[in-house]
Amino acid sequence: MQFKEYANYYNLLYRDKNYKEESEYINTLIKKFAPHSKSLIDLGCGTGNHAFQFENLNYEVKGVDISTSMVTIAEDKKKSCNSQIDFEEGDIRSYRDSRKYDAVVSLFHVMSYQTSNDDLEKAFATAKSLLKENGVFVFDCWYGPGVLTDLPVSRKKTFEDSVLRVTRISNSAVDFNTNIVTVDFNITIETKPTLQESELHEIHSMRYFFRPEIMFLANLYNLEIVGHYQWMNTEVPSEKDWYCVFILRLRS
Ligand SMILES: C[S@@+](CC[C@H](N)C(=O)[O-])C[C@H]1O[C@@H](n2cnc3c(N)ncnc32)[C@H](O)[C@@H]1O
Repeated sequence: MQFKEYANYYNLLYRDKNYKEESEYINTLIKKFAPHSKSLIDLGCGTGNHAFQFENLNYEVKGVDISTSMVTIAEDKKKSCNSQIDFEEGDIRSYRDSRKYDAVVSLFHVMSYQTSNDDLEKAFATAKSLLKENGVFVFDCWYGPGVLTDLPVSRKKTFEDSVLRVTRISNSAVDFNTNIVTVDFNITIETKPTLQESELHEIHSMRYFFRPEIMFLANLYNLEIVGHYQWMNTEVPSEKDWYCVFILRLRS
């Protein structure tokens, strides 16, 4: 598929995601637990949608992502909005920086993409290495109690704008022993006006987490859980919640 088509497809898919509101919510959490935060690194920043919002909220921002095409799109957007964000290609399991930050964020389920214990340990080690004393690591993820209460089902969704019509069929399988949901996406992209078709097949493996394992991991890296909420509010997560957010603080 052409890069331009991919960019359009990505923007179309996440058209309804409210990055501004989400970034304001995360900013509230950061300011609650690390009030003087000014610098922030976004691990798994994708095309930079949260990163640009954080810059608007006066953070000095860096963004890291493993995907070349995501970083290229982010760099492209940067040119059109007079941004100072430093985007870099990197794997959050091994990424290191000479600089330390007040906040490390990793949003839209990036941690759930770290499916093995080894991946997770490495990602937590990276977060720790990037944090200043008392800095916070904020991430959202799939939440085990919610996933097991309301098991994933097959879905068909159509997204459409003036250039593309995208139909996405997803089939999910849960592995109850590894806590991984494998989501198999079949995507048909029709380009207007000819409706010429191209097909994409993507498999996303997503791990769901339980609070005790996050607490265990946090302890290994001298982090403590200072907040754990339902996504986009400050209620305690329950078996009804598929997604939650953790705020971990580096102990002094
Ligand atoms: C669902 S996207 C979220 C992107 C962005 N945070 C957002 O909210 O739009 C997940 C992102 O995580 C990135 N990612 C997954 N594993 C990674 C890793 N080990 N290192 C760096 N980036 C990773 C992917 O490339 C992808 O851009």
